[in-house]
Amino acid sequence: MKKVLVVFGTRPEAIKMCPVIKQMNTHKDMECKVCITAQHREMLDQVLEIFNVKADYDLNIMQPGQTLTGITIEILNKFNEILEKENPDIVLVHGDTTTSFAAALSSFYHNISVAHVEAGLRTYNMHSPYPEEFNRQAVDLISELYFAPTKMSADNLIKEGKDEKKIFITGNTVIDALHTTVTDDFVDENLRWAYGSRLILFTAHRRENLGNSMVGMFEAIKKIANEYRNVKVIYPVHKNPKIRDLAHKMLSDAENIRLIEPLNPLVFHNYINRSYLILTDSGGIQEEAPSLGKPVLVMRDTTERPEGIEAGTLKLVGTDSDNIYTETKLLLDNDFVYRNMSNAVNPYGDGKASERICSILAEYFKKQ
Ligand code: UD1
Ligand code: UDP
Repeated sequence: MKKVLVVFGTRPEAIKMCPVIKQMNTHKDMECKVCITAQHREMLDQVLEIFNVKADYDLNIMQPGQTLTGITIEILNKFNEILEKENPDIVLVHGDTTTSFAAALSSFYHNISVAHVEAGLRTYNMHSPYPEEFNRQAVDLISELYFAPTKMSADNLIKEGKDEKKIFITGNTVIDALHTTVTDDFVDENLRWAYGSRLILFTAHRRENLGNSMVGMFEAIKKIANEYRNVKVIYPVHKNPKIRDLAHKMLSDAENIRLIEPLNPLVFHNYINRSYLILTDSGGIQEEAPSLGKPVLVMRDTTERPEGIEAGTLKLVGTDSDNIYTETKLLLDNDFVYRNMSNAVNPYGDGKASERICSILAEYFKKQ
């Protein structure tokens, strides 16, 4: 029996790895062990609960105000022991977080193969997103198998000279997750509050946006909320205290903006489905919203998800306050522009990415 050790630590990794774990548990010839680093705590736990996934190991590393160095050191120290105890045939990591980087590095030091889910995304700008661009490139340097979500991401890997035989286009497992969460009859108190208005869903959390850029984003949304009384804004605020303090200081007195706690993905995906438009600096939301036909203004200067830009549902608006305000206004005022951006397109596959990943792993093990 071959053993796969799946490791992740933050909310987005969990949302995209739970479908893979569930699929792997249906394979009789593969044993799946799950290790969470808990780089995030509450935001991770609420995902595990909703997908009913239990971890075999919990490194429980999260600290308030944690630094990149601190996260990396903690994981290198603690994951080491798990690798020695379990000695897996392969370690599965996801995306671009410091958890993924440190777990991959630790596996490399133990001569244990790494498979990378969501491989090949690139901006080729080491500072945007920071430190994620480094993390994902570093993981791809040492991976044995690359699960690229799209042809574009696979092409990046090929251009970098990675072995084509190790690259597989699988689709993105976030679509697998979306297929289990969105329902047309979903309703709750926040959606009742927004009923009859145009709902803007807002999120912001990127490390490189902390400080002035985030102030600018908040100023822009506040101006929009003041000007458009038929708009309601829901902003589930990230648990990072630096973000929470600023968000509450700047936005809590606006009566058509609701600052709420992070939502579990089942609820959040249904909010996407009911929103008029989305303002975000998130990566994952750029993948989810196009398939639900929701325009996304991406408050970043770069994106590693050009598929949505090409499809027309995403627009990069940077972090300048005036620009975010102007672009949001355009979408609210101009029906033609709005309709052009709200075509449902899904560049990220058919919801069977997890199935493909598990079949590829099974084939890989047969050849070992
Ligand atoms: C991390 C990832 C980022 C990803 C994001 C998803 C890195 C370097 N960054 O960034 O790629 O987009 O997660 O949200 O890996 N906190 C809590 N409770 C939680 C979660 C976070 O209190 O459940 C607070 C802690 O004080 C923590 C801070 O948030 O110190 C920041 O968390 P951290 O994981 O360092 O960075 P993120 O910005 O969340
Ligand atoms: N998400 C969630 N609850 C929220 C906000 C976001 O479940 O309150 C989900 C969202 O649907 C997406 C993922 O979290 O799947 C994105 O995570 P985040 O924006 O924190 O990180 P990124 O994708 O930028 O790494």
